[in-house]
Amino acid sequence: MSDSPSSPPSSTALSDHPRGPASRMIPMTTFAGTRPPEEGPRALDVRGVSVSFGKRSVLHDVSFHVPVGEFLCLSGPNGAGKSTLLKCILGLLEPTRGRIVIGGLPVNEGRRKVGYVPQRKAFDRDFPATPLDVVVANLRGRWPLFVSKSEREAAMAALERCGAGKLANRQMSDLSGGEAQRVFLARALATKPELLILDEPTAGVDVGGRAAIVDLMAEISASETMAAVLVTHNLQAIARCAERVIYLERTVRAWGLWSELSSVDDLSAIRTSDPNVMSLDGD
Ligand SMILES: Nc1ncnc2c1ncn2[C@@H]1O[C@H](COP(=O)(O)OP(=O)(O)OP(=O)(O)O)[C@@H](O)[C@H]1O
Ligand SMILES: [Mg+2]
Repeated sequence: MSDSPSSPPSSTALSDHPRGPASRMIPMTTFAGTRPPEEGPRALDVRGVSVSFGKRSVLHDVSFHVPVGEFLCLSGPNGAGKSTLLKCILGLLEPTRGRIVIGGLPVNEGRRKVGYVPQRKAFDRDFPATPLDVVVANLRGRWPLFVSKSEREAAMAALERCGAGKLANRQMSDLSGGEAQRVFLARALATKPELLILDEPTAGVDVGGRAAIVDLMAEISASETMAAVLVTHNLQAIARCAERVIYLERTVRAWGLWSELSSVDDLSAIRTSDPNVMSLDGD
């Protein structure tokens, strides 16, 4: 993927939000790195998206794009609006302002090109189901009463790819956090999405499970056709997978290559020792 020569790295503060009194509350963009090229096909286009809940502005004027095949990591502090942005991309939430285009289509049509791995809290692990049921249900769009041969083969191929083939007939409630996340990754990949959305897939997973998930994501990152947006604080995941990184804090505060962003002091939240934030050698 070629980088745009017209936007060289710069560590100067950008005052690109010259607005009225309300804008004083909004953190400025602090860093502009090498952006993806403007031309060429885009897997995702987010244009001026704002979200408010009542009077509370959670996202303000968020704009970025992800070219076909690019792996983007989205980082930012707790409450920054990352999951809210993903909900807009998935069509679960209507932005208050702005527009989202997926593979050239509006969200209500483009969302069928999207695979989604939810933040772990979103799933009730006691739900009585096997990994095979979970993957087939996503292929079919409804819960299986019985699993056909072709569905079983497609689901098994996705589970095998994620190192979860042996788990296919276990109960979800018996799986470890890392095993469950592999099943959800298989579920998302089974439909062969053009855009994969992952919301903190390594959070709460032990070291061994995390390494396996990062390995899988690095493999996906190497794919030329599938684009991905990974929400994570895990530096190892960012370092291994990210072609580009966005630091979000209500708005896009930084956008560029990880090699550029990793040395920007203002973005210390990416590297903090906050217990919710993972560092390279530990959590
Ligand atoms: N439906 C809602 N109604 C009101 N406020 C909401 C709603 N959904 C999210 N929020 C608020 O919006 C803010 C952004 O939440 P969001 O879940 O997007 O943050 P996040 O960046 O994903 O954080 P985390 O890193 O903790 O997952 C939070 O302050 C949250 O409380
Ligand atoms: Mg979140």
